[in-house]
This record gives sequence, structure tokens and C-alpha cells, in this order.
Amino acid sequence: MKLPDLQKAKIRNQSEVKYCEADILRDRSLFQGKKYFLKTYGCQMNVHDSELIKNLIEGIGFIETDSLKDADLVILNTCAIRENAHDKVFGFLGRCKHEKASRKDMIISICGCMAQEPSVCEEILRKHKYVDLVFGTHNIHDLPNMLKNKMSETSIEVESIEGNVYENLEYKRDSKIEAWINIMYGCDKFCTYCIVPYTRGKQRSRRSENILKEIEKLKYEGYKEVTLLGQNVNAYGKDIEDELSFPELLARVSDTGIDRIRFVTSHPWDFTDELIDVIASRKNIMPYIHLPLQSGSSRILKLMGRRYTKEEYLELYEKIKKRIPDAAITTDIIVGFPGETAEDFEETLDVVRKCKYDNAFTFIFSKRVGTPAEKLEDPITKEEKEERLKKLNVLVNDYSLEANRKYLGKTVDVLITGPSEKGENIVCGYTETMKLVNITGGSDLIGTIAKVKIKEAKSFSLDGVIEK
Ligand code: 5AD
Ligand code: SF4
Repeated sequence: MKLPDLQKAKIRNQSEVKYCEADILRDRSLFQGKKYFLKTYGCQMNVHDSELIKNLIEGIGFIETDSLKDADLVILNTCAIRENAHDKVFGFLGRCKHEKASRKDMIISICGCMAQEPSVCEEILRKHKYVDLVFGTHNIHDLPNMLKNKMSETSIEVESIEGNVYENLEYKRDSKIEAWINIMYGCDKFCTYCIVPYTRGKQRSRRSENILKEIEKLKYEGYKEVTLLGQNVNAYGKDIEDELSFPELLARVSDTGIDRIRFVTSHPWDFTDELIDVIASRKNIMPYIHLPLQSGSSRILKLMGRRYTKEEYLELYEKIKKRIPDAAITTDIIVGFPGETAEDFEETLDVVRKCKYDNAFTFIFSKRVGTPAEKLEDPITKEEKEERLKKLNVLVNDYSLEANRKYLGKTVDVLITGPSEKGENIVCGYTETMKLVNITGGSDLIGTIAKVKIKEAKSFSLDGVIEK
């Protein structure tokens, strides 16, 4: 049993990272015909980890079910970024416990970021002994072995923070059109509110040759779009000697000729002129940039450890807009950081008014155990924070609608990704700028990049017709 150690995240040096091929156990006879139920919480990183988990457990015989009642194996792939994620997971665990009461051989496991939190592991060992296995984000590849050797008591298989960078991993991708690709793991920024550097460990970039090989293969298989994933993608390569920088990597990915390239998430601090140039000059790098602001107040940004001021952020924003005028820019904003005054919040609204974001993901500050912000005085009431969030969301939604309205009557390229939830004979897809478009048409359109004329604009989507 290995319990994670939050503090170790701070002790880091480059030599601790090992690059190795994952040795994967594949023997379908082990769990032939057994069923698994997998629930994923949180960000794209977790969604992509779940694609890896699916490949691994199907390799030892499991088949997927969407019914908890039928499952022999339940895996909850969890998120730790905000406290409510914890409540959701433990709420769902209650249902699992109920199922297990009548089926003792059911295996219940928890993985993802929450599994990396010592307090969560301790809580499971103390109060949730029906959980069979807790495994961390650094040892997913070993899941087939863990299941094969499962013990009768709860086992905790969580590496203490630093992991190896494994290659030779295969994914059961949810889509045949768009693919996620990890280009790096972890984060070195240590923003004071954020638990990610502790749960995902220090920044470890993958080798560019492995990334490029994976993209070549996806292109060969017919994929139209790749999204390069990382907590701080534009710091790519900084942790390895003689590695490409992020703009250099992007240029090489662009050279593969794949139709569409996206990347998330960028940190404003690492957003260089060279990066802006490469996005501006390459047609297959999509003009869509997620640029987390977090707060518009320089005072709060300093307390957050974000490494930029309001003015520097706005300067960067203007630079991007000048070089790539059609770029859609989206953001993340936290309201109610400890000590945020009404004036600080006004500064955030001011930036939103200036940037008129295409979309913004807004959150109320959530205190995470073990982060520096946990210890800050927080005199602002919950009601005040909720009020600020409401006000911010009204503004954000107005700008989303305004941004979408600019598409009315225009013809744009849409990568059609699947059937729409809006009804029969409607498909949906994304513009280059990541706007969701619903289009009347049949499934033969799926996987194509079509010219679509936009007929209607709403806050969160567009409606269009195929241009003949
Ligand atoms: N409280 C609220 N929001 C948070 N985020 C990260 N940590 C916290 C926290 N403790 C938000 C940030 C980040 C996004 C993924 O989640 O805005 O960009
Ligand atoms: Fe968290 Fe992003 Fe800051 Fe890294 S850069 S610590 S992932 S908010």
C-alpha cells in the first residue's frame, strides 16, 4: 500500500523523471465477459485517461456497460479541482455500496485526482472499506495487474506524486474524428488556489518524436482533428534539455498536414510572440485560444501567484487579437478568492468588458486542502460570492451571444462530429473557432468538413445549413 504524499510535490528535480515503455498485461481470458461501468468526472485530461483505462481493461476481457446494476467492475475517475467534486463522488459511492451489498464479488475502484489526495485515501480506509482499489494518476497503466492481483481488503496503489512518462500506451478513443493527445503531464506553476500540481505532479513533457508519431498514426487512421493536452501546454519542453519549444512542436504538428490542431490549456505567462506567430501563419492550427484570466485584479493575481498583472494580460490579449483578428478567445475566471473586495471584482468585470470573451468558464473559489490559499483569511460571505458569480455570468453570456451573432449570414467550415441532441436528421460539429453548430442533414456528413451557412445564433450554439 502506498499512500500519496502531498508535500513531496514541492521536492522536485529533473532527474526524477524516467522515460519508459509501459509494460501492459493483456490477457482477455482473465475477465472474459465481465462487465465494467466507468464514470468520469472533471476535465479533458480525465476524459482522455478514461480512454486509456477502457483500452486497458478491455484488453483483459471486460466489456463496457452503462448500467451500474450489471457491472462487475466499477471505476470512478475523479476530479479534485473543487470541493463539490468530492461530494458528488462520495454520493455516487453510496449507490455503489448499495449494489455491492447483494453482489459481494463486485469490484469498486476510485482513480483520478481525488485518489492522489491523502485525506481522501484515509477517508476511504476509515469509512468506505467496501472500496476495493484506489489507484493514482501515475499508475493507470498497471491497472490490469492490479485487478489480476486484487486482494480481499482495500488496496491503495498511488505513487507519491512524481511518475514516469510512459510511452506505448493505447487508447480506446471515444471518437474516430477528433482525438486528444497528452503532450505533457503535471504542472509547475503552483497557482496558490490550485491542487493540480499536487495531484498530477511536476511538469513532465513527452518526447516530441513520440507525440509526432502518434499524430502521424491518427492521421493515417483518418482522424481530422487533434487536441494537444496539458495543464500548461505552452510550457511544453521546458522541463527537458534539447527538446522543442511549444511553438516549434506546433509547427511540426502542423507539418503533418492533419486538418485541424487545437491545444489546451495555455498559461498567459508562457504565451510568447513566437507562439502567436505560428498560430497566425498556419492554416491548420485553429484560431481558438483558451486564455485563463482567473481574476482581473492585479492585487488578487499576485495573491494567486499568476505571474502577470491585469495590464500585462490585456496587452497580451490585444497582441493576439491584432495578429489573429478572427481568433475566438475564451477564459476561466474565479470569483471570491480569499479577500477579493468589491473593487477587485469590478476589475474582473472591467477585463471581461474589454475582452468580450467568446465564452468563459466561471467558478466560485473553492478551498483545497494543502494549497497555500487554504490558509488565507476569507471574510467574504458565500452569498456575496454567489451574487458576484451571477453578475459575472450575465455579462459573460451577453458577450457569448454577441460573439455568436457575428456569425449570422456567414459561411464557415464546420467539422461535423456526430448526431445532434436537437433531434432526428440534425448533425452537429464545430467551427474553426470552436463554436457548436447544429445542421440539418444526415449521418453521411459525419467526419466531413462542410461549408455551412449560419442562420441563427444563440448564446451557446449556432444553427446552420449546408451550402450547396
Ligand atoms: N477554486 C475554484 N476554481 C478553481 N480552478 C482551479 N482551482 C480552483 C479552485 N480551488 C479553476 C481555474 C482553472 C479551472 C480549470 O478551474 O479557473 O483554470
Ligand atoms: Fe493549476 Fe493551471 Fe495554475 Fe497549473 S497553471 S497550478 S493547473 S491553475
